[in-house]
Amino acid sequence: VTQPIRVAVVGLGSIGRAVYRTLAARQWVQIVAAVDVDPTLIGRDAGELAGADAGGVPVVASFGEAGTGGDVAIVCTGSRLEAVAPLLGEAVAAGWHVLSTCEELAFPWLRHREAAAAIDDAARAAGRCVLGTGVNPGFAMDAAVLHLSAVVDRVTAVEVERVVDVATRREALRSKVGLGISATEFAQRAAAGSIGHVGLAESAALVATAFSWPTVDLDESLEPVFADAEIEVAGRRIGPGAVLGIRQTATIREDGEPRVVLRLTMYGGAADPHDTVTLHGPSPITQRITGIDGDAATITVVVNTIPVMVTLPPGLVTVLDVAAVRARHGLIE
Ligand SMILES: NC(=O)c1ccc[n+]([C@@H]2O[C@H](COP(=O)([O-])OP(=O)(O)OC[C@H]3O[C@@H](n4cnc5c(N)ncnc54)[C@H](OP(=O)(O)O)[C@@H]3O)[C@@H](O)[C@H]2O)c1
Repeated sequence: VTQPIRVAVVGLGSIGRAVYRTLAARQWVQIVAAVDVDPTLIGRDAGELAGADAGGVPVVASFGEAGTGGDVAIVCTGSRLEAVAPLLGEAVAAGWHVLSTCEELAFPWLRHREAAAAIDDAARAAGRCVLGTGVNPGFAMDAAVLHLSAVVDRVTAVEVERVVDVATRREALRSKVGLGISATEFAQRAAAGSIGHVGLAESAALVATAFSWPTVDLDESLEPVFADAEIEVAGRRIGPGAVLGIRQTATIREDGEPRVVLRLTMYGGAADPHDTVTLHGPSPITQRITGIDGDAATITVVVNTIPVMVTLPPGLVTVLDVAAVRARHGLIE
């Protein structure tokens, strides 16, 4: 009989709790630790907190206090690598593989080359691997492209359009896209870099890297979407002229030609939510997907990736290392 994979859930916000709840019902996983820094959560039964049965796993403030080793730590604490990096170091040093929804961890070499090298060194030294994944980044605008590339010979460019109605998502996401704020506040938060989706550029860099295209010529744009008239979104009334969400793009060019174009639209009441992936080349293909529920999909990707973690090479890895059959341009050329 195979032993269950021993898991720690780190960060018991809405994603961490849903991961916990899902894992509590899986026989092949044993949850051995729950970690969160929120003082109101420490000492509580993590199962109860997550809406599962009380399982005798108390929330502790750090890995050091978890008191037991394990296999895979699932880190759902934050989007920025700077904030998450110390936790990653602590986890690998304590012998855990790390799977995280931290968006910048999906391709940390883009903005945090030195921190990425340090994480890679620490993970290799500990013989453990570290991976950033989720629905976006982690699937919809990157891994899905790689999977589709398995059937396309010589991809010359990639376009992905993703439209999300944030009314159907968790509150943290509605706040990240500025639902209900004024145009002035949007402009201030955009200038401070505290609004919008973190991870779009990382998805673009993942795709470019998969096809051996340079990532140096990368452009990003971010614009608000305003309400034309009063509208109700997730129980809140948003007045005309207020922000409903964002339109964000990331484009990577090579010799002035677009190679990767990712367009992400996320706002309250967005019509026709979908994901459309187009792979250009001599025999282009387009796939349109409807029905991905972003939060549920994140939980599912995380859960489905747990068994893969123990098979990956040590170090800092990406979904490029996990993806199933896909085009490998480096080998074709
Ligand atoms: N890749 C993807 O597709 C994807 C999808 C969904 C979510 N995400 C990301 O996943 C993360 C979690 O999402 P969420 O909505 O659940 O966030 P959340 O509600 O903010 O929950 C994060 C939790 O982690 C705790 N925390 C913060 N720093 C910690 C640390 N050093 N050690 C232990 N716990 C810590 C927080 O405590 P305090 O509240 O006290 O800080 C909070 O309880 C976010 O960054 C989100 O953007 C990614």
